Amino acid sequence: MAVERTFVMIKPDGYERGLIGEVISRIERKGLKIVAMKLKKLSRDEAERLYSVHRGKPFFNELVDFVTRNPVVLMIVEGESAIDVVRTLIGPTDGRKAPPGTIRGDFSLSIGENIVHASDSKDSAEYEMSLFFSDDEVYSSKTR
Ligand code: RTP
Ligand code: MG
Repeated sequence: MAVERTFVMIKPDGYERGLIGEVISRIERKGLKIVAMKLKKLSRDEAERLYSVHRGKPFFNELVDFVTRNPVVLMIVEGESAIDVVRTLIGPTDGRKAPPGTIRGDFSLSIGENIVHASDSKDSAEYEMSLFFSDDEVYSSKTR
């Protein structure tokens, strides 16, 4: 067990549907801390870097179109086992199959438009946090 940081992004569908507060509330009620946050409209280059592991897949261009069409909320979330805990909170990729009680299970009927992204490993968390945040934009929980 260890305190970890993970990267979380509320996607444009979450922004458009007014679900920013809902997603943040679920993260906070779980006991996790938001230690960095920004509202930003991603460039295509930023979206392609974030999802570089999916480059070449059939849904890649559609995914980049989607995540660049409106602003997103970028966050770093900190807490005990934060990487796995946030993945459990958001649920499986396909909102139609995600169980009720998860963010995707409660708010998405789609495999593409599924409200939120979260890092799936320590390596992806490090990479994704570094794409959008510099060290001086991240608050240490020691300063609380
Ligand atoms: P994410 O990276 O956004 O947290 O989602 P994930 O790990 O659950 O799923 P992943 O396989 O990494 O896919 C990234 C995102 O691409 C879109 N997608 N569309 N149309 C499709 O078949 C399809 N498959 C994936 C979704 O927005 C998915 O979250
Ligand atoms: Mg993924």
